Amino acid sequence: MSEAQAIRTDQTDEVDFVELDTMIDKEFSKDKENLIMILQAIQRRYNYLPKPALTYLSAKIGVPYSKIYEVATFYSTFSLEPRGRNIISICLGTACHVRGAERVRERLHESLNIADGQTTDDGRFTLESVRCIGCCSLGPVMKVNEDMHGRIATDEVEKVLGQYE
Ligand code: FES
Repeated sequence: MSEAQAIRTDQTDEVDFVELDTMIDKEFSKDKENLIMILQAIQRRYNYLPKPALTYLSAKIGVPYSKIYEVATFYSTFSLEPRGRNIISICLGTACHVRGAERVRERLHESLNIADGQTTDDGRFTLESVRCIGCCSLGPVMKVNEDMHGRIATDEVEKVLGQYE
């Protein structure tokens, strides 16, 4: 039995261990010094850090799971919970707030039927609120994945959402 076949838990179905194995070996030379970059690659692949992938990584590069968990929870860009295919960040910083960000957020709640931090049932969107994403003059700002949508009005929300599968 190969290392890749050895780990099986409830969440393993979504993790491609052969692909993970190849990535750790070939892209990151199985080097524990590359831990953060490996985590970034896993997050890019799954949009979060599945526990079975981290358990496998721990055994593969010889870093205790507790250490990997510590790193994964220290950086806010990492998520240990499954997230949607598209990540919406609505800015609630002061500049956006005074320009109506709260109304945009409420419209998002209504349209998607989720609250902050939640993911739609179909896995299409995860909604997060953030404090300033660095383009205050465009407020209110809503970011979807890497796309900035500035000066967004409440009645434009659905049109923006429609751009993402
Ligand atoms: S306050 Fe929203 S981008 Fe700065």
